[in-house]
Amino acid sequence: MTIYRGTVFDTPEVEGHVAQLRADHDAALVVREGVIVDRTDFGSARERYPQDDVVDLGEGILLPGLIDTHVHFPQARIIGGLGMPLLQWLDECALPEEVRLGERGYAQAVADDFLGGLISAGTTTALVFGSHFPQAMETLFAAAEKSGLRITSGLTVSDRILPEQLLLGPEEALAEGRRLAETWHGRGRLRYAVTPRFSLSASDELLASCAELLTAEYADPLWFTTHINENPAEIDEIGRLFPESTDYLDTYANHGLLSERSVFAHNVHPTPSELPRLAEAGSAVAHCPTSNAALGSGLFPFREHREAGVQVALGSDVGAGTGFSLLKEGLQCYFGQQLRGAAGVALTPADLLRLATSAGAAALGLQDRVGDLSVGKEFDAVWVSPSPGGALDGVLPYARDDDDALAKVFALGGPADIARVWVGGDVVG
Ligand code: GUN
Ligand code: ZN
Repeated sequence: MTIYRGTVFDTPEVEGHVAQLRADHDAALVVREGVIVDRTDFGSARERYPQDDVVDLGEGILLPGLIDTHVHFPQARIIGGLGMPLLQWLDECALPEEVRLGERGYAQAVADDFLGGLISAGTTTALVFGSHFPQAMETLFAAAEKSGLRITSGLTVSDRILPEQLLLGPEEALAEGRRLAETWHGRGRLRYAVTPRFSLSASDELLASCAELLTAEYADPLWFTTHINENPAEIDEIGRLFPESTDYLDTYANHGLLSERSVFAHNVHPTPSELPRLAEAGSAVAHCPTSNAALGSGLFPFREHREAGVQVALGSDVGAGTGFSLLKEGLQCYFGQQLRGAAGVALTPADLLRLATSAGAAALGLQDRVGDLSVGKEFDAVWVSPSPGGALDGVLPYARDDDDALAKVFALGGPADIARVWVGGDVVG
């Protein structure tokens, strides 16, 4: 067993809608075979387990591993394309790069950059939007397995509107998806997600083929992810392409694609009738604050999601999002709600931590395993230790209390301050 000694912050409880910060100083997490088997103060742990190794995390704060519920593997190298709304950004930045993933060596290099980016940011679990190329997905899954991260991903499928190299017909999409799911779903920390890019680029026949794969019999069912209600021009086009559908959500719901294993990215512009249907299905929304700001998509209606009872977690949405750090996403989420004035929700530092950890675990159905550092959970953790001379280092010592310290981590922390990362007790970065 190993005893991890240090300051531990996590958010296992919510009261009303407000996350409760659990902050323990000189705490001990006792880990056996990757699982936390005891949590106490260090003095008691030393007495109880006198022979066991101690990892002293004297400086900084230990957080649960961060959970990114929406991030694009093929877009690792195009972060920072500013100045364009969604559809122009797709045409000029994202899709030309995604075509390059058809080349095996390039896909391998991008997969390495992508997984390295997640680990450097302290992300231990991610729902990953895949490539349109089956071969690139083989590459990603193999690299993800080696990395030790918890990755749920799948072949992104489209059969219209995108560059021709990115298109697959419904039958081929189903066959390739099935083959990938059979190889990778449930293997170690990997799972498969059925992933139509968005209804804009998916015919009803393709969405039906997605439903067929999603309902195939697996001991642990597959996941589903896609985009929804991100940008007004996109939403108008959906109305033209699906005249029979009542709204954007209906284009997916019509095919039975809504369940508690579905994660919808963005939902910046939902109609009032979509929210209760998402809540009733138990689906989650991946809120991607820096992406929404960078593409000018809009301010997320967080209060409306909360009031309707829709689960919300955070996504970096790299490469429209401006980096892999969920600390930055948490901060931008806070900014967005501040800017909504009375229509926004007043988020606390603990709310930001919960959004980046336990809420992500719940959205991905992993709440029994990860998301906080309670006994019985796997030891997925991030040691935030301010980089000497960096911005966080300059202010963390002056924090007024634990909430203020956590606010400072979100305001000023970044990849340079992520000193070590564990998944299931294994060091991954
Ligand atoms: N909608 C369809 N594809 C994408 C994408 O790659 N990024 C974002 N932000 N929205 C999308
Ligand atoms: Zn996206």
